[in-house]
Amino acid sequence: MSSPLSAADLPSLSLAAGGSLRGQVRVPGDKSISHRALLFGAIAEGRTRIEGLLPAEDPLSTAACLRAMGVGVSPIQAGEPVLVDGVGLDGLAEPEDVLDCGNSGTTMRLMMGLLAGRHGRHFVLSGDASLRRRPMRRVVGPLAEMGATIAGRAGANLAPLAIQGQRLHRATIRTPVASAQVKSAILLAGLSAQGPTTVIEPALSRDHSERMLQAFGADLRVGGRAGTEVTVLPGAVLRGQEVVVPGDISSAAFWLVAGAITPGAELTVENVGLNPSRTGILEVLEAMGARLEVRNRRVVAGEPVGDLHISHGPLRAFAIGGDLIPRLVDEIPVLAVAACCAEGVSRISGAEELRVKETDRLAVMARQLGAMGAQLEELPDGLTIEGITPLHGAVLDSETDHRVAMSLAVATLVARCDSQLLDPGAAAVSYPGFWDDLARLRC
Ligand code: S3P
Repeated sequence: MSSPLSAADLPSLSLAAGGSLRGQVRVPGDKSISHRALLFGAIAEGRTRIEGLLPAEDPLSTAACLRAMGVGVSPIQAGEPVLVDGVGLDGLAEPEDVLDCGNSGTTMRLMMGLLAGRHGRHFVLSGDASLRRRPMRRVVGPLAEMGATIAGRAGANLAPLAIQGQRLHRATIRTPVASAQVKSAILLAGLSAQGPTTVIEPALSRDHSERMLQAFGADLRVGGRAGTEVTVLPGAVLRGQEVVVPGDISSAAFWLVAGAITPGAELTVENVGLNPSRTGILEVLEAMGARLEVRNRRVVAGEPVGDLHISHGPLRAFAIGGDLIPRLVDEIPVLAVAACCAEGVSRISGAEELRVKETDRLAVMARQLGAMGAQLEELPDGLTIEGITPLHGAVLDSETDHRVAMSLAVATLVARCDSQLLDPGAAAVSYPGFWDDLARLRC
């Protein structure tokens, strides 16, 4: 039976200006935690049961790759627990075909770490046009130091990537960028290396892998400045777990900014993951003077969770950079929208990593918000944005990027006339119900 056509299936969407937002919303499961629950469940002994897994395109890519290597993963449907029948650390079968990672950088990079040590087996990883443009040397390099054999285009920097599984040796690796994907790939490779593997980051990136690997039984030591030095010792047996995935703070961010900038708005976002390595967005909104309240703080399956209440109010400009950037890296596009509605000049620096996300998010946001009349300057490593600038309606384009699509939708709420958004379906990569939630919350 075919499902009814939804807003996300349309080539473009009309987004009406004006009105407000009111009500409660539950954002879907955290994307980073969802990928990890599937991957770690796959290499554990026994069954893993995942509640609240994000039923979106990116985790579906991870699940499809795992199934192609003989892992039993039950169908991923909203509201249903997902069961993963683990095959053990070295139980992944050689796939008969290319593993398609779709749009998902996390799938490709974490998979590289997992597969590099599968001795005697051959794997090819590829993905969509966006993923095939994203740099992979940042993972290939460290894994090569451990003895991995990975070939690819542009000196093994671009997918498709061919991995010939090897016995890996121990290493101590200093990563030049704070990236949880790079860190996690090295830790996964280290699980079966011949000796302890240490990864040292320049600043703390999200630590979901560390927390969840420990919960699965891995022998992991976390130290250094603020947890930036992680050592994995091989030999521990991972055991299937019950994982409860909290709502994704990166998806909640769209409602937080929408609530903060839209006159009359009042929103509650329920059950949001509040891992400190992800809560930079809350700190910035607080510094802007947003009317934000965290309610009902609790810990669910090892991750802090709470409900976020936001209402409209005057906002001040912000300045962000340095070690804060990895703690809000995915929220910068929507923070750029907030900056247009904040009094003063907002400055985003040290964010050159945005240029190698699903799109070059600095260029895309500058282009798209510029089309709405935003006063901004694109810098090599960030943006300068002057507010308060009234935005006007425009023909906008997500340029295939999920977070751009949703950030622009937030901007259109405060525009002076209606907008048209091309390729709204991109949102399905991380938040398939976004357009339905938007329609429901509007008043
Ligand atoms: C992710 C890490 C971040 C983030 C991405 C998800 C993860 O990327 O941008 O959306 O799940 O590990 P980097 O680790 O490359 O910064």
